[in-house]
Amino acid sequence: MAVSAYDLTGRTAFVTGAASGIGRASAVLLAQAGATVHCADRDPHGLDETAALIKDEGGTAHLHPLDVTDRARLQQAVESCERLDIMAAIAGIMHSSPVLETTEADLDRVLDINFKGVLYACQAAARLMLARQVRGSIVTMASGAVDTGGPGLLCYGAAKAAVVQLTKTLATEVGRDGIRVNAVAPGWIRTPMTNRHDDEAQTQRQAQTQAQAHTEALMTRIAPLGRVGEPEDVAHAVLYLASDASAFTTGQILRPNGGVAMPW
Ligand code: NAI
Repeated sequence: MAVSAYDLTGRTAFVTGAASGIGRASAVLLAQAGATVHCADRDPHGLDETAALIKDEGGTAHLHPLDVTDRARLQQAVESCERLDIMAAIAGIMHSSPVLETTEADLDRVLDINFKGVLYACQAAARLMLARQVRGSIVTMASGAVDTGGPGLLCYGAAKAAVVQLTKTLATEVGRDGIRVNAVAPGWIRTPMTNRHDDEAQTQRQAQTQAQAHTEALMTRIAPLGRVGEPEDVAHAVLYLASDASAFTTGQILRPNGGVAMPW
């Protein structure tokens, strides 16, 4: 297989969560591979920084400040693309709460962003690809939490398990139209998400800090590669699934996780 299978020249990608971490690294790498990249996120300043990184290297970025839970706004942004070959639905939040303390509000918030936000992005992209008869690639962001479980991961893991089910289901429904759908399930990646805490309660914050320090220590001890991941480690998985290099791959979960989990 020629290296040119990774060449995205002439293609257009839409990346959610592009203002930070894995989404930013993916947007930048897809642009480096030649794609025009539409960057969506609820953080407009982060989007500007991502656009600057892309433009500094001669790439093309279009920005869509939006919340992925706003279905109509997301659909409008996707439909504004002149063409769409790649959707990378990456936006998400971390959440940790023990099962017995999990509230309906916790569940709603995490499912709204981490599952419904991905679903809406996939629906908008697949509809546009079908309408324009584009043989596209959709990449969703699951998590190693689906493989390993862990205390506090009820809402987060449930949303990511739903993303895996969405990925497999959609792959079976649009494969004959030439659209591939795959998930990436990273292990522990060093990003602003794993450094900061999205939740308000200070006690919960402290608990999360301890849990994260523990996870990181564990990861460096037990992972075969002996380190945590970097956003670029995941971006390369996104590029592979977005490109023709993965032309015979659909409905799969790719795990850039340093070997910390090795499911069948
Ligand atoms: P991050 O916090 O650095 O980036 C997430 C981005 O999503 C941010 O720019 C944020 O503004 C955006 N976002 C969050 N909610 C949004 C909403 N409602 N609408 C629009 N944008 C929204 O986090 P990171 O680590 O880069 O995570 C990206 C994805 O990777 C997430 O889906 C996360 O669950 C997943 N992931 C991360 C892992 C890690 O260890 N960092 C491991 C496994 C999966």
